[in-house]
Amino acid sequence: MPGTVTVILGIETSCDETAAALVTAEGVILADVVSSQAELHARFGGVVPEVASRRHLELIAPVIREALAEAGTTLDAVDRVAVTQGPGLIGALLVGLASAKAIAWSRRLPLIPVDHLDGHVASLYLEPEPLEPPFLCLLASGGHTMLLDVRSHREQALLGTTLDDAAGEAFDKGARLLGLGYPGGGALDRLARGGDPEAYAFPVARVPGLDFSFSGLKTALLYAVRGLEHAELERRRADLAASYQRAIVRALVGRVREAAERAGRERIAIVGGVAANSELRTSLPDAVQAPLSLCTDNAAMIASAARFAEPVSYPGYLGLDAYASR
Ligand code: KG4
Ligand code: ZN
Repeated sequence: MPGTVTVILGIETSCDETAAALVTAEGVILADVVSSQAELHARFGGVVPEVASRRHLELIAPVIREALAEAGTTLDAVDRVAVTQGPGLIGALLVGLASAKAIAWSRRLPLIPVDHLDGHVASLYLEPEPLEPPFLCLLASGGHTMLLDVRSHREQALLGTTLDDAAGEAFDKGARLLGLGYPGGGALDRLARGGDPEAYAFPVARVPGLDFSFSGLKTALLYAVRGLEHAELERRRADLAASYQRAIVRALVGRVREAAERAGRERIAIVGGVAANSELRTSLPDAVQAPLSLCTDNAAMIASAARFAEPVSYPGYLGLDAYASR
């Protein structure tokens, strides 16, 4: 590795992905390693915080080592350590934060605390095709649904959010009702491909302003599922998935276009796990879409966000704490 390149080590442990990445100050990804715990939590039907923390503890060192190996380098090449400070599961976040502090402290490196949601937006700033603000961003993940007017790398305004469930949560709850397991967004997406999206008319709640509401939709699916005999349900599962997905995608697409118009933004971008949804991607062909691997949680986006945040020098960062919500 040339000595003139500034290398950022990114660490992400906010939920059930243990991730480490190496990114240059220019936004080139040198390594991007994600170890998912999804299988571990599947039998519980959701993430169990205590189980997640313990697994992060086991995985964090091997995952960082793997990232260094993937880049063909060592910690000697790292100039800054970036880590997700929140929002997320406190116990899970603390594993990443403590690891980042330990590495930064032992090497006398600056540490950059990163907000996970800023990280999702910063997934758009990575090479080879970085997006330049301003743009209107839909951030849709398992925990958040936000419409952001991104004015610069450091400044954004929240135009709308969900009043109840997040879009990813709606996908996961729908998937669960259809017997698809956890996390079900991707599985529902695949099942929907073989179904008729117009088979069921699921309602999309219209709330005032630029906000979302998905809880009524989930209840509508519950009643539709309950009303079917077992064999009939088996036959209609793909139709139910396709119609349910159509309702979520319609709500997201409608609102993001409205928000772009109100904010006067010509460009739209979508980020977060739900941005991996195939119907959402084809419904917004003009939108800038992060590569699939950068939609779901990863550490390259955390290192990317750190490029635009203030480093905290030694020993100031030793007192940093994790936060559960913004
Ligand atoms: O951004 P992310 O990895 O984690 C959070 O920060 O929450 O998003 C995870 C969410 C889950 O709800 C998952 O079901 C959803 O993204 N998801 C999808 C797809 N892939 C992941 N939802 C719909 N279609 C997909 N293809
Ligand atoms: Zn996320």
